[in-house]
Amino acid sequence: MQKEATIAVSSRTGNTAYIAEGVVDAARSTGWTIVETENGKAPKTDVVVICFWCRRHSLDDASLEYLSLCEGKRILALGTFGGYPTGAYAKKVRDNVANAISERNECLGVFLCQGKLNESRIEKRRALPPDDPHHLDDFGYERALEGLKHPNETDLLYAKAFTRDFLPSC
Ligand SMILES: Cc1cc2nc3c(=O)[nH]c(=O)nc-3n(C[C@H](O)[C@H](O)[C@H](O)COP(=O)(O)O)c2cc1C
Repeated sequence: MQKEATIAVSSRTGNTAYIAEGVVDAARSTGWTIVETENGKAPKTDVVVICFWCRRHSLDDASLEYLSLCEGKRILALGTFGGYPTGAYAKKVRDNVANAISERNECLGVFLCQGKLNESRIEKRRALPPDDPHHLDDFGYERALEGLKHPNETDLLYAKAFTRDFLPSC
């Protein structure tokens, strides 16, 4: 079978777009041809890579919309989000994404790395009363400040390695 994959990239502020460039590099370096999505059309390839940003603990709306066009595909997902990739919250997001994909497709894996949040929004959330669900406590604030340094070159390296490891051998 031909090593051809469609890549769908959704990125509001550039974090995911940065990771997606590494994904394309890694896929091409292992002999894959990368096909761009066609607006509103189902992918023609069997393998699909979805690069998403996390919203409401899952894929963002544009990625969910693209996913709704996919059926019987083998899908690899790489996303950026506000949490630490090794934390319990990351597991929850990865599970949500894998479940959304697996409804009508095969999920090949879900990668997450931290992405920066809007700086003024961080300060606004820090200033919210502690009982507000969006309030950032000391740990949340620390995490958000760490997020300002991501995605970085190491995240990119990991995203490339993940892509090489989890794209199927066909
Ligand atoms: C409206 C909105 C909702 C978000 N919801 C979540 C969320 O539920 N969980 C999370 O970890 N990060 C959340 N984030 C953070 C983004 O996932 C994160 O900043 C991501 O790296 C943005 O990627 P982009 O630069 O490619 O758009 C949210 C960001 C925005 C703007």
